[in-house]
Amino acid sequence: MKTESNTVLITGGASGIGYALAERFLDAGNTVLICGRREDKLKEARAKRPELHIFACDVADPQGRQGLLEWATGNFPTLNVLVNNAGIQQRIALASSPSVEAIRNELIINLEAPIHLSTLFIPHFLKQKEAAIVNVTSGLSFSPLAMVPVYSATKAALHSFTLSLRHQLKGTPVSVVEVIPPAVDTDLGGVGLHKFGAPIDEFADSIWEQLKDGAEEAAYGMAAEASWASRDQLDTMFERMNQPR
Ligand SMILES: NC(=O)c1ccc[n+]([C@@H]2O[C@H](COP(=O)([O-])OP(=O)(O)OC[C@H]3O[C@@H](n4cnc5c(N)ncnc54)[C@H](OP(=O)(O)O)[C@@H]3O)[C@@H](O)[C@H]2O)c1
Repeated sequence: MKTESNTVLITGGASGIGYALAERFLDAGNTVLICGRREDKLKEARAKRPELHIFACDVADPQGRQGLLEWATGNFPTLNVLVNNAGIQQRIALASSPSVEAIRNELIINLEAPIHLSTLFIPHFLKQKEAAIVNVTSGLSFSPLAMVPVYSATKAALHSFTLSLRHQLKGTPVSVVEVIPPAVDTDLGGVGLHKFGAPIDEFADSIWEQLKDGAEEAAYGMAAEASWASRDQLDTMFERMNQPR
C-alpha cells in the first residue's frame, strides 16, 4: 500500500496502536479519521492532533458500522484506506461458566466487525485508484495465549479471513495488509495489563517502516517469529507462553 496521499479511517484510533498509526499517517501528510465508542477519548486524541477527524460509534453494532460508512464516505469521498484496528481482550476461565454475552461480544468486536466493515467499504474502495484494507491481527493468531482463549481464536480467524480477502481482491485496486503485533504496552484488556509489552512507539515505528516498504504483512518481535514458525516451533512457543503461573 502507499503511505502518502491517502484518506485513512482507523477504527479504535483514539488510543494505543490505532492512535500510534494515526500519528504516523498524519505525519506523512495523510487525512486521518478515527472512531471509537468513548467520545472523551476521541476528543482527547483530537486535542493532541487537531487534524484528526473523529466519529463516535460502536463497531459491535451493524447499524453503527453502516453509520460509520455513511459518515466517512459521505464527508470524505476520497476515503481509500480502512484500518480494522478496534478490538477487546478478555481473560476467560473456560471452566467457570463464562457468560455467552461476554463471549459473543468479543467475537463480534474482534471478528464480525472487521469482516463486515471490509465488505461494507469494498464497493467504495473499488472506485478508487488505489485503496487498502489493513487488518490488525496478533502474534496470538499463530500461537494462542490460553488465558485469553476467545481473543486468540478471533485473531486466528481474522488472520485466515485476511488471506481470503487478499486472494479475492487480487487484481483490483484494493490491497490487503496484515499488521501482526506482539504484546505491546497499551491499555488492551484493562489499564496496566500490558505493561510487559513492547513500547508503543518502538513497535509503531517498525510497522510504519514496513508499511512504507510495501509489506503485505507487517510484524514485530515475537509476533514476527510466530508468523513464520514451523509447527514444532509453534508447539514450543505455546508451551513457553502458557506455563502455569
Ligand atoms: N496491545 C497488544 O499487546 C496487542 C497485541 C496484538 C494485537 N493487538 C490488537 O491491536 C488492536 C488495538 O489494541 P490496543 O492494544 O491499541 O488496545 P486499546 O488501546 O485498548 O485500543 C483498542 C481500541 O479499540 C476501540 N474499540 C474497542 N471496542 C470497540 C467498539 N465496539 N467500537 C469501536 N471501537 C472500539 C477502543 O476504543 P473505545 O473503548 O473508546 O471504543 C480503543 O480505542 C486490537 O485489535 C488488538 O487486538 C494488540
